[in-house]
Amino acid sequence: GLKVAVIGGGSSYTPELIEGFIERHEEFPVQELFLVDINEGKEKLETIGELARRMIQKGGVPIHLTLTFDREEAIKGADFVITQLRIGMLEARSRDERIPLRYQCIGQETTGAGGFAKALRTIPVILDICRDIAKYAPEAFLINFTNPAGVVTEAVNKYSTVKVIGLCNLPINTRKQLAEYFNVESGEIEIEMAGINHLNWTTKIRVKNKDVTDSFLNGEADLKGFNMNNIPDLEWNRDFLRALGALPCGYHRYYYKEDEVLKHQLEQLQETGTRADEVKKVEAALFKRYQDPNLSIKPPELAQRGGAFYSEAAVNIMSSIYNNKKDIQTVNVQNNGILSCLPETASIEVNCMIDRQGAHPIQLTTKIDARIRGLLQMVKAYEELTIEAAVHGDYSMGLLALTTHPLVKSASVAEKILQDILDENKTFLPQF
Ligand code: G6P
Ligand code: MN
Ligand code: MN
Repeated sequence: GLKVAVIGGGSSYTPELIEGFIERHEEFPVQELFLVDINEGKEKLETIGELARRMIQKGGVPIHLTLTFDREEAIKGADFVITQLRIGMLEARSRDERIPLRYQCIGQETTGAGGFAKALRTIPVILDICRDIAKYAPEAFLINFTNPAGVVTEAVNKYSTVKVIGLCNLPINTRKQLAEYFNVESGEIEIEMAGINHLNWTTKIRVKNKDVTDSFLNGEADLKGFNMNNIPDLEWNRDFLRALGALPCGYHRYYYKEDEVLKHQLEQLQETGTRADEVKKVEAALFKRYQDPNLSIKPPELAQRGGAFYSEAAVNIMSSIYNNKKDIQTVNVQNNGILSCLPETASIEVNCMIDRQGAHPIQLTTKIDARIRGLLQMVKAYEELTIEAAVHGDYSMGLLALTTHPLVKSASVAEKILQDILDENKTFLPQF
């Protein structure tokens, strides 16, 4: 039978995934579902587990659910292992977001110095999970949602034999937003996406087989909605978009509108805190909701989170592998020459053909020129250095990673930020 293990099963996002497994059970018949978490997450896992049972019961599907703290047991013989863990939980995220702001740098959980800190905590744990997968389920696919997803995927490709696909809900959200904008079905729209995770450009848009990229970029419509729930909704400048020749992703606001976002973040910090503080409140309310014994569906409040539609992305990829669909999805894989301006071993987020063997990146029809290349190469170099720092506990690599990042102002600021990150994450960074 089909077995799926979810590591970080106590996440508030899990009901999304359960809903996906129920709705798509016919094409993706999960038989054994293991939700794994650590002891500190016991209460959350139990709450999620009980809700999941009620959802499965109501859905009337034969999914056998197991809650466990035993990772080996969960991984053993699994077909798919999903990682969606958060080392240090929201407290650590809050620190990641706050430290850079002390030095007038963007404070974000995946982008900039915050993402660097998260990578340092996360990569060793994911590689440890990979050792278990290699041992107990060597044929399994690792579907990694854990952020920074692109960096984590590249680290797994470089330091493990496990088959990994990095997943983000941003591509599927972009597709849905464009379909809504053009008032067509998702299937009637084709887009080409190029770049890396959370730094991804939509370089081509085709609606009903017609290329509408230029008219879209030249149009006048409000593009605020082309964003994620967790990112301030600042409008793009039309002349800038025309010059760029592509639709940037939500996360590009941190780069292209750095000054405005920073100002916004500093104001927020005074008023309500960072995004983590906001999410803490949403989560507390969500878990209260989950505890209601009469609740047996995914509550709509979950849609306030940045991860909306992540289950759809997850089931899409796993079902296409399971059913050898050979369809196109935008996921994170090893470059292998598709983006010639990046190393062969880099993880990239591009359109891929999905079959039983996994995700195969497909040739781009658009050319990545200097308009995109400059920022892309810089952030990828930062990512490479970050992986080395995280795997080897290498201070110098860490310092250079941060200094290279376009959102960290200088080497001396990088040094201060790095020191704060190391000081405030001591228990999570045994490699240093
Ligand atoms: C987006 C990103 C995810 C990220 C999430 C954060 O959806 O693609 O990678 O985890 O936002 O959302 P949150 O509600 O936790 O701020
Ligand atoms: Mn993401
Ligand atoms: Mn810099």
